[in-house]
Amino acid sequence: MSRLRVTAVSAVISIAFVMPAAAQSDDALVKRGAYLVNGPVACSNCHGTRNPDFSIADGMEFAGGFHIVDPAFDVYAANITPDKETGIGDWTDEQIIKAIREGVDPEGDIIFPPMPSPTYNNMSDDDAKAVVAYLRTLKPVRHEVEESHWNIPQQAMPPAKGAPAPAMSDTVAYGGYIVNALAHCFECHTPMGPTGPDMSRMGAGGLEITLAPGMSVYTSNITPDPETGIGNWSDEDIKQAITEGITPQGRHVSPPMPFPWFNNMTAEDLDAVVAYLHTIPAVSNKVERTEFQMKNFP
Ligand code: HEC
Ligand code: HEC
Repeated sequence: MSRLRVTAVSAVISIAFVMPAAAQSDDALVKRGAYLVNGPVACSNCHGTRNPDFSIADGMEFAGGFHIVDPAFDVYAANITPDKETGIGDWTDEQIIKAIREGVDPEGDIIFPPMPSPTYNNMSDDDAKAVVAYLRTLKPVRHEVEESHWNIPQQAMPPAKGAPAPAMSDTVAYGGYIVNALAHCFECHTPMGPTGPDMSRMGAGGLEITLAPGMSVYTSNITPDPETGIGNWSDEDIKQAITEGITPQGRHVSPPMPFPWFNNMTAEDLDAVVAYLHTIPAVSNKVERTEFQMKNFP
């Protein structure tokens, strides 16, 4: 009898100790998720509903509908707000994480490409949970999105390993994690080979992205090649291009370079990205400059 009572008391005490700690770690998770989604991961660069002038409609940052056309696909980014009917409000955390990292929805349909699942496949378990925790805090928006179509066979990603991110103190490795697990730099900045991105020319640019019929941009060479890449740029030059979309020559970079989101990156994360970019192999590849500028995009 007295033993039982002790047990009951200690249970109450441990709950009292555990609860505030759990609440705090949820807050930390949401905060990390908000940073990732609105910073280096830039989900709404694709998942925002765009006005005809390409600006993102108010309150529709995650409501989907952005139409992305390519010879390989004709897709509409999904509504990823917690709306139960038109968004992902009914999905479990595991289902959302699988969609992000493996590119497969709960019905088993493949959603990649261009959803950057090959990059997100490398996302740590902690960061994947943080992204989902943040998505849960968004206002549900009712917005039906049209169906996507692909002209190529789609392929799901292998099961994600969820390995922890490298220590932030290992600047180059951590920068590599941001680039290759979060910010999907190379999915835009690598030229296409016959069967997909030509990773032997990682970062060499020249991938054609169609923004609208007749409006193509060619991604830049971001390897350290001094002639055709960014080998002659100072670290400050590179950071200005990443966060403000302005080159050392004062040229504005074209969308869909996600600089408005990258502008929210911490100084440490930016330094890590730049340190990592210095270490990738230089590839000589002269890329045609895009002529047009779009003030309102994104
Ligand atoms: C390069 C563009 C792009 C980026 C960046 C992107 N997505 Fe997507 N995503 C898409 C497209 C396009 C679809 C729709 C595919 C389809 O119709 O099956 C999609 C589908 C999804 C789905 C499946 C939803 C459904 O109803 O089928 C989820 C969940 C999702 N994205 C979450 C995210 C999250 C979270 C991020 C950021 C971590 C992100 N996406 C970044 C393009 C993108
Ligand atoms: C959704 C596609 C996309 C993603 C993701 C992306 N970029 Fe870009 N980036 C572009 C486009 C498009 C341009 C501009 C091309 C132009 O203006 O001709 C560009 C331009 C740049 C430039 C300017 C280079 C120059 O010579 O003008 C740098 C530097 C750059 N990106 C680095 C990065 C880094 C680092 C990342 C990841 C942290 C990244 N980009 C992610 C599409 C992307």
